[in-house]
Amino acid sequence: MISQSAPIVPVLSGMNSHLRVGIKAKELGMTKVLVVYDAGVLNAGIVDPVIENLKASRIDVVTFGKVTPDPPDYQVDEGGKLANDEKVDGLIAIGGGSVLDCAKAINYLTANPSPINQWFFPAIPQGKPLPMIAIPTTAGTGSEGSFAAVITDSATGIKKAILDGNFCRYSLTVSDPLMYAGLPAKPSAYCAFDVLTHSIDSLFSAYDEPYSHMFAETAVRKVVKYLPRVIANGNDYEARQEIAFSATIAGNLLNTNMAGNTHCMGHNIGAVFHLPHGLAVALPLVSLMKLFYSKWRPERAKLVGECFGVHFSGTETVEEIGELTGNAIFKFYKDCGIETFSELELNEEDLEKAIDKMTDDIQTPTTYILMSRSDYVSVIEHMKTLR
Ligand SMILES: [Fe+2]
Repeated sequence: MISQSAPIVPVLSGMNSHLRVGIKAKELGMTKVLVVYDAGVLNAGIVDPVIENLKASRIDVVTFGKVTPDPPDYQVDEGGKLANDEKVDGLIAIGGGSVLDCAKAINYLTANPSPINQWFFPAIPQGKPLPMIAIPTTAGTGSEGSFAAVITDSATGIKKAILDGNFCRYSLTVSDPLMYAGLPAKPSAYCAFDVLTHSIDSLFSAYDEPYSHMFAETAVRKVVKYLPRVIANGNDYEARQEIAFSATIAGNLLNTNMAGNTHCMGHNIGAVFHLPHGLAVALPLVSLMKLFYSKWRPERAKLVGECFGVHFSGTETVEEIGELTGNAIFKFYKDCGIETFSELELNEEDLEKAIDKMTDDIQTPTTYILMSRSDYVSVIEHMKTLR
């Protein structure tokens, strides 16, 4: 198989690294920037110090603070119009995945005509993108490291992707543990479980690429080691930084291997029941590991198990590898306080609606083996037994 690695986004990391944003923006040639954020980060007091820092570096600032979760197309259009009217030459995104995605889409409209909904994948944008700096405030989606963004098509309510290695690529990620410290334990855990699924799914993807194995294993090991510390103490900055790094390299995995069956299932369970993304994609992982992943690629299931502390004798059957690895992941879930599927008591009728859409999910083309509806039903039935 021929494969190609994806370039890693440069990362400026460390305590107070957000106070270097002005210098870095200047280095990237920015003189007037659009700062994109949402109300949450503004209220958390994260935005103002960045703006002050940019102004101290004599960079003019225009603000767009209207981003909402799962940003709709019209919001991107509004941001794009502002960027063009103000003739900005750079974009700074401060926030979680929705903000980072919104800024990528705004970048499309600085060189391509509005509205954004004519540029959903597989459309290819033209022209030259503006340089962009990401300042993530959650460590999960990996949007700062991926070359895609998800925007909601307001006409249908369906989330759609834009995908481009130039317009969606951040020139720099500023990863400052202070930016993550205000995130409570539960959402921090959900975000880290998104990292886990991006990483583990990539090992069971139809696409295969040697660098990605390294990133996936590193990201899983870091989440296993550092997430319990973040949950115990949100101000454990070393642990926050390590989880943030794992999120960014797992974001890079989305460029080469993409996510897999956890996301085919989680996208649709999450959409129907309005669950946080990290929780929705985490729910199927243990059952997928036991029933499918370990059978598709037992050696990689073993590698995952080892990341969770399993010691294999080398004589295990494929089924035993799946059980041992799946049980170790499930113990980690319990230790981190993640809900089990049965605890959520989801309505069966609505669950059927979610299952109907799993085989057509946007992630389906990159899964190692195409799973049928009945395969997904078997995973759901197994998920119900986990307690
Ligand atoms: Fe995800």
